[in-house]
Amino acid sequence: MRRREFIRNAAAAGTGMLVLRSAPGLFAQSTSGRIEVLLDEPLGTISPNIYGHFTENLSGVIYDGIWVGEGSKVANVGGIRKELVDEMRKINPAVVRFPGGCFADSYDWRDGIGPVDKRPRRTNFWNGGEKPGAPDAHRYDPNRFGTNEFVQFCRLIGAQPYLAANLRGLPAQEFNRWIEYCNSPAGSTTLADTRAAAGFKDPFNVHYWGVGNESWGCGGNFTPQEYAVEYRRFTAWAPSYPGAELSFVASGPSDDGWDWTRGFLEEIVRKGRNQVREIFGLALHYYAWNLSRGKTKDWNEGKGDAVNFDVVDWYELLRQGDVMESLIKGHWLVMGEFDPDHHIKLVVDEWGPWYKPGSELTPGDQIEQLPTLRDAIFSGLTLDTFNRHPDKVGVGCCAQLINCLNSLYLAHEDRFCVTPVGHVFAMYAAHQGGTGLRTEFSVPSIHYDRDGKMASFWGLQGSASLHGKEMVLTAVNPDVKNPMEVPVAIRGARVKSGTATVLTASDIHARNTFEQRQAIVPTTTQMEIKGNAPVFRFPAASVVKLTLALE
Ligand code: AHR
Repeated sequence: MRRREFIRNAAAAGTGMLVLRSAPGLFAQSTSGRIEVLLDEPLGTISPNIYGHFTENLSGVIYDGIWVGEGSKVANVGGIRKELVDEMRKINPAVVRFPGGCFADSYDWRDGIGPVDKRPRRTNFWNGGEKPGAPDAHRYDPNRFGTNEFVQFCRLIGAQPYLAANLRGLPAQEFNRWIEYCNSPAGSTTLADTRAAAGFKDPFNVHYWGVGNESWGCGGNFTPQEYAVEYRRFTAWAPSYPGAELSFVASGPSDDGWDWTRGFLEEIVRKGRNQVREIFGLALHYYAWNLSRGKTKDWNEGKGDAVNFDVVDWYELLRQGDVMESLIKGHWLVMGEFDPDHHIKLVVDEWGPWYKPGSELTPGDQIEQLPTLRDAIFSGLTLDTFNRHPDKVGVGCCAQLINCLNSLYLAHEDRFCVTPVGHVFAMYAAHQGGTGLRTEFSVPSIHYDRDGKMASFWGLQGSASLHGKEMVLTAVNPDVKNPMEVPVAIRGARVKSGTATVLTASDIHARNTFEQRQAIVPTTTQMEIKGNAPVFRFPAASVVKLTLALE
């Protein structure tokens, strides 16, 4: 079964299958090498938007995760979970995507505005995947959390809203009207008055608009050529207002779907080369899910377990995460065939590991999983990959913020915890807005036994950015056993002082839960700086941030 079939089935039934593995042995590991940061080789500005998030109306993400309601015993700000707001303020979330995902192409934005008691209940796209006894709000959308509440959430956490339009089920006119509702100036239109009546006189100024989602699958089953025609129709002469320049994101490929990227752009430029100027970004979705070591491509059978995994599963997942770099480079090359000036950026608005069901902290929460240290390493290496391509990646949204796949937070009723992934986002926020720097990691590879054959994976990888006289270097050591001690040479400056923030644990399965909220948290220490290339010991299985003051 493939992902697109899963989505169809999840919307109509349940999923799940168990895959067991054996524990392998490890080969010996040496530790020598160096890191070189080249101050005179800037890569471009790291957009804060690559540190973005994704919130879909799917199971416990919105209702329970974000929205608890004004009358709730759970501390809230106008119905929005306060602990979530407080945590998100620490990570500068930049941009948040809503309402889907597949849900977006079934959503009527009008259902979620206007007087709360008049909002209709609708069958949620994901209803078929909900377990018997699931909360009503997960199955039948009460529309209590709509555009106003989402924008309010974004304002509370300091993020820009990124709305995904329904291209499969609504006409282009409705897309235009949603833009009008959000962006038309106070008092200018009937929809601006409707917005004001809800307490929002000033426009929301929403810049980012997704034009459908996964239009090759749940978003309409289009061919890339068909979708390109729809895209043009939806975006041509969409209303724009002062203060809200529109940035349209086209539904892009899944994984290495080069044909989608090529077919879509080929059709777009058939109307003229300058048509690419109407597209801000092309969405790329990439989930790491197949831990079968090449044994199957079946969507259910290929998946691994979120918390019960062996060392090979650890490396297999990271190996899959590492594919992101080739996807960015590959799609960028194809995009360059039609858009040589690279006006269009990649918007990686769904990424993360996807495991089989069973680890969720809240029983019944569809596709919720429990992130471990492995997912922290995966997330660190993905964010490092984005940082290394600041010219190509315009937006990134981790899937999904809370109570879902690679979640930063888990919550149920009055319980809440920050996952290791959340801690990585807090550490890496320091890169935002900095100048990416070329950084060379010259370290030995890791070797491990993969079903009787030796497999290799890189020993240390990361990224660096400059912020005035401060340099931030992040890296992950994927080696489950061995620390990596290496000098960090900064070409073009001297290091005056520095701190090291480390996220690791003695158990590679370490994770936080409602009961043990601090089982894995980062620690920060002062670095001892001797000479011009401070030597740092990157602990086994760790995510590290070095913050260095330069002179
Ligand atoms: O993140 C869950 C789902 O995965 C999204 O709704 C869809 O876009 C993707 O296939």
